[in-house]
Amino acid sequence: MYPLLFRSILTRFDPETAHHAGMLIIRLVGIWPFSWAARALTRPDPSLRTSALGLDFSSPFGIAAGFDKNAVGAYGLGALGFGHVEIGTVTAIPQEGNPKPRLFRLVPDRALINRMGFNNRGADAASRRLRALRMRTQRPVVGANIGKSRVVDVDDATADYVRSATLLAPLADYLAVNVSSPNTPGLRTLQAVETLAPLLSAVKDAAGSTPMLVKIAPDLADDEISAITRLAVDLGLAGLIAANTTISRESLITDATTVEAAGAGGLSGAPMRARAVRVVELARAAAPDPQFCIIGVGGVETADHVRALLDAGATLVQGYTAFIYRGPLWARQINRGLRAG
Ligand code: FNR
Repeated sequence: MYPLLFRSILTRFDPETAHHAGMLIIRLVGIWPFSWAARALTRPDPSLRTSALGLDFSSPFGIAAGFDKNAVGAYGLGALGFGHVEIGTVTAIPQEGNPKPRLFRLVPDRALINRMGFNNRGADAASRRLRALRMRTQRPVVGANIGKSRVVDVDDATADYVRSATLLAPLADYLAVNVSSPNTPGLRTLQAVETLAPLLSAVKDAAGSTPMLVKIAPDLADDEISAITRLAVDLGLAGLIAANTTISRESLITDATTVEAAGAGGLSGAPMRARAVRVVELARAAAPDPQFCIIGVGGVETADHVRALLDAGATLVQGYTAFIYRGPLWARQINRGLRAG
């Protein structure tokens, strides 16, 4: 039913408009009695319970950062079966993001290209939403993903991240430090170990007792992935998220004109699946202690894809792009598939 709806109607709308419409429905699903009905339909089997980061997840599968940038849909997403919701990326200073259009579908590849540029209402607004969310029972685990405000110079990034961490860490179940989006100029340079070490230690101090993870790009060289993972372990971080969108355009089947017309941005979805598995393998080899939480993300569409990331060493798994292609019951399909396997 959803694939037909997607092909015949949704693809006629600009992807960002379709996203906003979807988010309205998700917010509605977060309101009683819809939340109750959705939960009755989608509740993950108790056998999928997963302990990580000192927290109890109803399923190892959650929704990746970027989908709910302003923490408005987390409750509804939980009711749809996601075991955790990573809100954000949130920046200390509210920002509009890049000019539109900035989100593109590559339907034959079941992929997206985005250059959203951290459009969000800022850390103050997100903190108010998280405070309200904490009052609700039966909510999913909620992580807060933070990034650098665009107007702040890369050299001053630490103070900017610390400001967001100070506001959000006390209200989030975990904090994710995003140094890997391709859409904020200079952001990915923060992944160089010499720059990353002081940044992560300052943010970790601000995060206090909230578990903190760092989110990395799949385009790093293999030895850089190992080095950043070792750094995360040495600094006492709780884990690592692998991986963000890629700037690669290799092996796409969508025609080259469509890909070129989309322009710059991060590619997500099926084409990055194999690299995400490899990045998780490399990270796990560098951090063999199972207490170190690795969240695998990239190209997941089915329960088998989730399993491949878990087998590669991931503790938890996230997805985003296939939600657009598979529709509202996607988390339920994954959870059912995981239980059956
Ligand atoms: C993203 N992603 C992302 N990641 C992040 O850390 N902060 C963000 O703000 C965003 N924004 C964002 C917007 C859009 C439109 C997409 C498609 C993706 C990256 C996302 O969290 C994930 O790492 C990748 O998309 C790979 O997973 P999938 O989409 O292949 O399952």
